[in-house]
Amino acid sequence: QLNHELEKLIETAAPENSDKLTKELQNGFSNLFARFLEEEGPSVKWDNIEKLPLEAVKDYNTLETPTTDVIHKMLAKLIVVKLNGGLGTSMGCNGPKSVISVRNNLTFLDLTVQQIEHLNKTYKTNVPLILMNSFNTDEDTEKVLRKYKNLNVEIHSFNQSCYPRINKETLLPIARSSYYEDDLEAWYPPGHGDFYQSFKNCGLLKKFLDQGREYCFISNIDNLGATVDFNIMNLVLNPSNRSQHEFVMEVTDKTQADVKGGTLIQYENKLRLLEIAQVPKEHVDDFKSVKTFKFFNTNNIWAKLDAIDRVLVDNKLNMEIIINNKSLDNGINVIQLETAVGAAMKCFEGGVGINVPRSRFLPVKKTSDLLLVMSNLYNLKNGSLVMSPQRMFPTTPLVKLGENHFSKVREFLGRFANIPDIIELDHLTVSGDVTFGGRVSLKGTVIIIANHGDRIDIPTGATLENKIVSGNMRI
Ligand code: UTP
Repeated sequence: QLNHELEKLIETAAPENSDKLTKELQNGFSNLFARFLEEEGPSVKWDNIEKLPLEAVKDYNTLETPTTDVIHKMLAKLIVVKLNGGLGTSMGCNGPKSVISVRNNLTFLDLTVQQIEHLNKTYKTNVPLILMNSFNTDEDTEKVLRKYKNLNVEIHSFNQSCYPRINKETLLPIARSSYYEDDLEAWYPPGHGDFYQSFKNCGLLKKFLDQGREYCFISNIDNLGATVDFNIMNLVLNPSNRSQHEFVMEVTDKTQADVKGGTLIQYENKLRLLEIAQVPKEHVDDFKSVKTFKFFNTNNIWAKLDAIDRVLVDNKLNMEIIINNKSLDNGINVIQLETAVGAAMKCFEGGVGINVPRSRFLPVKKTSDLLLVMSNLYNLKNGSLVMSPQRMFPTTPLVKLGENHFSKVREFLGRFANIPDIIELDHLTVSGDVTFGGRVSLKGTVIIIANHGDRIDIPTGATLENKIVSGNMRI
């Protein structure tokens, strides 16, 4: 019956969507859904997880630094891909996360373009930037892209798939027509694991292979630390290394703050990503242990283009399905089936992890992350954020901002006349109706709690050092 429903949906497709929807619905979605129906139980048997072999994760510090000449040659074989299908909903924005301003009125997208432009200028190369958009982000992204027309960066974008959300009880699509503009809630982008197939479907994989490009560097567009790293590029692209690594996953040391992040495991003689969604309930605490699973996935991935093609042609791409349960505004419970880009690791030869410095993982998920990247903790250098040399320790402060008053970008911005000096901050907790005047300096551990009905205004020029402020306290 599902297929019948899908065919009915396809029949309603607008002419400009019909090709895309027909192909995607019939191939991609039907396969994913069939697997969902067939597969039972967790995709890993806990007891079969093997100890990570020593050589499975290389220490970044052991990698060689290439010469300028070699860098130049390797860049000619590289493409940079940014995952840009997600919205900024967790920070209260309706549009793509990549168009949120981060610094000096520059957005994630602006900074990414600046980084690549700088790379191309410095090394006299033409590394293309590829954006994977979704039906949620493409229109807004395309509008912004116009302003980069005259820059020295070749930008390509393509849309990932658009799959129908399924009613949890009936297991049938909730969409009544494929005009998804009219019924956005009925459709969804199926996670970044969709990159491989969509990249091939749109013709870009073949185009870059024909150009002689060999590797892609993929990362989340909201990870401001995901710059093209020459030492890692050297591992995969230096001709004298004759790399056997078709797939590289950048991992970093797991801390208590990252216990939900995916980790690397050795399983059936291959390295693979293990996400919390795949873990049997009784082992969730084991999974979260930072001792047993020391690393987590930054989602910075290097993959060989001809290997991607081979895996797809041979029909060997097999990524675990992540079942995302949602409740729509009208109360209907739906499921959406997703996959993660790192889950493809086990399908490639010579997969390896690299334990990179934390600075390569600088994601902006919440407004507390935004506070850090907007602050004087970082300096902006050619589109990259570099931690200020004035910071005594290279760790970032732990910042917790109250859900009710700070979680949306607009509200967050309205509460700061400007972003405080946090060079010497270790820990900040803010809760309730709190505002900050200009030139505020926060040092050590600062806790500011306005109780329900109270408001605390931190005055302009104030310095708070190891201080707890609560109630109607005057500063
Ligand atoms: P995710 O949504 O997978 O991870 O997006 P996240 O941002 O860690 O998720 P939350 O905030 O905890 O829910 C990671 C990157 O992948 C892109 C997003 O735009 C982001 O850059 N993405 C995600 C896609 O391109 N397509 C998708 O279907 C999902």
